[in-house]
Amino acid sequence: MPRSVVVLGAGPAGYVCAIRLAQLGQNVTVVEKSYLGGTCLNVGCIPSKALIAAGALVDRIAHASAMGISADNVRVDVDKLVAWKAGIVAKLTGGVGGLLKNHKCEVLMGSGSIVDKNTVAVKLADGTTKTVKCDDIVIATGSVPIAIPGFAFDEKDVWSSTGALAPKSIPKHLVVIGGGYIGLELGMMYRKLGSEVTVLEATAGALPGQDRDCVKVIERSMKKMGIKFLTETFAQGYERKKDGLHVRIKTKKGEETVVCDQIGSMVGRKPYSEGLGLEKVGLKLDAKGFLAVDKQMRTSVPNIYAVGDIAGQPMLAHKGSKEGLVAAAVIAGQKEEYDVRCVPAVIFTAPEMASVGAQEEELKTKGVAYKSGSFPFAASGRAMSLMETEGFVKILTDAKSDEILGVHMVGPEVTELIAEAALAIEMGATAEDLARTIHAHPTLPEAMMEAAEAVHGMAVHIFQPKK
Ligand code: FAD
Ligand code: NAI
Repeated sequence: MPRSVVVLGAGPAGYVCAIRLAQLGQNVTVVEKSYLGGTCLNVGCIPSKALIAAGALVDRIAHASAMGISADNVRVDVDKLVAWKAGIVAKLTGGVGGLLKNHKCEVLMGSGSIVDKNTVAVKLADGTTKTVKCDDIVIATGSVPIAIPGFAFDEKDVWSSTGALAPKSIPKHLVVIGGGYIGLELGMMYRKLGSEVTVLEATAGALPGQDRDCVKVIERSMKKMGIKFLTETFAQGYERKKDGLHVRIKTKKGEETVVCDQIGSMVGRKPYSEGLGLEKVGLKLDAKGFLAVDKQMRTSVPNIYAVGDIAGQPMLAHKGSKEGLVAAAVIAGQKEEYDVRCVPAVIFTAPEMASVGAQEEELKTKGVAYKSGSFPFAASGRAMSLMETEGFVKILTDAKSDEILGVHMVGPEVTELIAEAALAIEMGATAEDLARTIHAHPTLPEAMMEAAEAVHGMAVHIFQPKK
């Protein structure tokens, strides 16, 4: 007997779960409050990567003189750029709508709340409420940006990431609060489009929690690009004056004011469960606002599942989609669990950064005996031909078994290269496996093969003195 399932939220966790449920023969109702595709397709991954690609193109043209290429009057038509980005979003979100329809998922555009463990009430756009009975509920309501005191998002003076993805013009001076994923991706993008950029970061360095060797390359790159990056710095508030927005900041040296014409506050995101009625079924959030789940993505109520950002870190689209697939399989009665060794992370900075598996610091803390091999893109013919030689690939392996434990990279196209590393870790591959695999020449993935060889002191295209 097919089960009837209500999926709350149509982001990459919810809509993927819904489609898989339908493929497995279940009856699915998807409830979505704002837009099909969720944060990711509408105001997250996709629009940000479109604008970042545009920034990269402008920057590439500006720096092509070494290749003998120059172009005068490179102009950015902001309205056209934003419209182009909106077109990509529309195509993708339309595609999600089409897929849900083709799979016969009922879509209710409205806000869903749980009435009891088998009933969801949906407040529809026309103000009426529809009640849906079901066997199972999947909560996939995602996350929202965190606002800090003194910087409420009005999307005029103070942008959240959403405002930053729909500019009316390119700011002259953008102050970014938060040197994490969004702050750096969008801060660098605006710098390439011509803004002066100042980033205020609370901790001692950019991208807390990421491989520090990789982050050093990003910090160096920010300096080269002319981005002012202030660490251990807190924004206290701001005033709008005649000459611009006066942002009061507290640094290690004391208090000062930075004058700009645009503020972007990007200090993290929090799980979203407002109005969901969790209390009606006795569901409790943890201290950080996440819903605890088991390996089958079940909450403490057996027929209620949670997937995506609401279900815990890392708040990444592909992790949410994977969880959605697991929940769908479990609901359909298959033997399935969230049993992944690693979730890759990709950061679209300049250069790009990507990682998967264990970090070096983590291995040191745990006392794991490990080996490390690195290969710099400066020694890659392909990287040279792309004029992007900054960065490296670093592979960490178990000192005894040679199994790959973690891979961290910074450099050209590493957001694509990391897929090979994720596959290697999932399959329990060793550095020798990677080193023995023929990698086509001349390509960037050769850096993976060389880094794997470097683990054993045998990289061919760099000199590794015998230890
Ligand atoms: P969401 O995508 O947030 O979707 C949840 C949906 O639920 C929303 O559409 C919401 O309207 C709906 N909803 C909420 N409450 C209700 C309710 N009561 N009833 C009905 N519907 C409801 N991740 C990556 O992996 N790669 C990237 O490059 C990347 N870039 C990003 C860039 C930016 C600027 C931002 C903000 C995020 C980015 N992320 C990226 C993170 C990624 O967007 C999220 O991890 C992902 O969207 C989470 O998916 P989700 O389905 O859990 O939630
Ligand atoms: P983040 O957690 O990545 O970074 C927030 C930064 O703000 C941190 O460096 C933190 O130390 C700093 N911060 C916090 N409070 C501050 C304050 N008061 N003053 C100054 N700095 C402060 O969060 P972000 O960038 O908002 O992104 C949210 C999430 O979205 C990410 O964690 C990630 O999960 C996801 N994302 C993923 C992307 C990708 O996969 N490429 C791109 C963008 C977002």
